Amino acid sequence: MASNKNLLMLPGDGIGPEVMHEVKRLIDWMDRRRHVSFNITEDLVGGAAIDARGTPITDATVAAAKSADAVLFGAVGGPQWDNHGFNKRPELAILTLRRELGLFANLRPAIVLDPLVNASTLKPEVVKGLDIMIVREATGGIYFGEPRGIETLQDGQQRGVNTEVYTTHEIERVARVAFELAAKRQNRLCSVEKANVMESGLLWRQVVTALGQREYPNVELSHMYADNCAMQLVRNPRQFDVIVTGNLFGDLLSDLASMLTGSLGMLPSATLGAVDSSGRRHALYEPIHGSAPDIAGKGQANPLAQILSFAMLLRYSFDMDEDAKLIERACTNVLASGLRTADVMAAGCAKVGTHVMGEAVIRELDKQAA
Ligand code: NAD
Ligand code: IPM
Ligand code: MN
Repeated sequence: MASNKNLLMLPGDGIGPEVMHEVKRLIDWMDRRRHVSFNITEDLVGGAAIDARGTPITDATVAAAKSADAVLFGAVGGPQWDNHGFNKRPELAILTLRRELGLFANLRPAIVLDPLVNASTLKPEVVKGLDIMIVREATGGIYFGEPRGIETLQDGQQRGVNTEVYTTHEIERVARVAFELAAKRQNRLCSVEKANVMESGLLWRQVVTALGQREYPNVELSHMYADNCAMQLVRNPRQFDVIVTGNLFGDLLSDLASMLTGSLGMLPSATLGAVDSSGRRHALYEPIHGSAPDIAGKGQANPLAQILSFAMLLRYSFDMDEDAKLIERACTNVLASGLRTADVMAAGCAKVGTHVMGEAVIRELDKQAA
């Protein structure tokens, strides 16, 4: 079927292509059963692109990402490329896409699905019903700050340098996304930094406070130091609704939050740019996990984070909330039926691999659509 939905798929390395394969089957299903089709272009990124083309991402791939309606990303990286310099590491692919497409707001929802309430390493009564949204700034902070590098000092020692830096504009635009989300949820926003130690954190707190007073007086705003936030996420995660934080703290806190939901293999994400004058925005969707070299090639990876990232893509880039919900419900029902990949395996459940899990989601979709 002809389609006006242009999707760039970038599976990447390790388990990236394995979990992306299950989304491809889901897209085939949508074509057949929901009569929704996508123009799909696929390309190499990360280690796969280094091996084939000598660079983790080509200018042509960046251009294709800019002209696509949405990008679905798998994961990049692996030990075979770990000794490459920073200008030639696989991870540069995702960092370049975030920077070049201006994808500053990384939405990482941590939701505990009922069937997985026992899968977390935390007690069920602590995580049951959890539904939080971490909004991570993704194009600034210490990831991109200058100066950076490793220099050799006069005495022969070396010194590694990175710079944490945030401007008013960078803080305001990501905070605005978080305030807007909070206003549609439980109306609570917690801003996280280390204003007690870092000037960039102090500015962050001042800017978020001023924006809240000026534009979102009805959203309940609180502030927390990042170290305390890590502790509070484990102590009582349900105290949070939306969290907004910088690039590095957001990276750490979202991996931590994933274990509240049962597994890193469960957490999807959307990374959004600014809305332009025609109402369009660049957007990239990816699981928060990496290429998982320890299980790559074994067919064991949990494909649900990638599948749920595709559901976010439908919701945020194509306004297809109903289809997104259909997919999310199918994932929950499959878990409720007792099928589990190894990462969320529990007593009395049936352990399955990536492919069987993907197939089960499609069978469930068939059932729901019947
Ligand atoms: P990782 O997220 O790849 O894996 C951490 C642990 O979680 C591993 O034990 C892995 O087996 C497990 N895991 C991850 N995803 C899973 C899934 N879907 N199902 C089941 N288990 C899963 O993190 P790492 O080991 O620190 O990094 C490996 C490589 O991935 C590195 O090169 C790193 O830079 C890269 N990385 C890439 C991305 C990305 O592309 N967005 C994100 C994080 C890490
Ligand atoms: C993530 C990853 C990336 C990050 C790496 C691969 C650059 O860990 O998306 O969480 O640190 O942002
Ligand atoms: Mn990460």
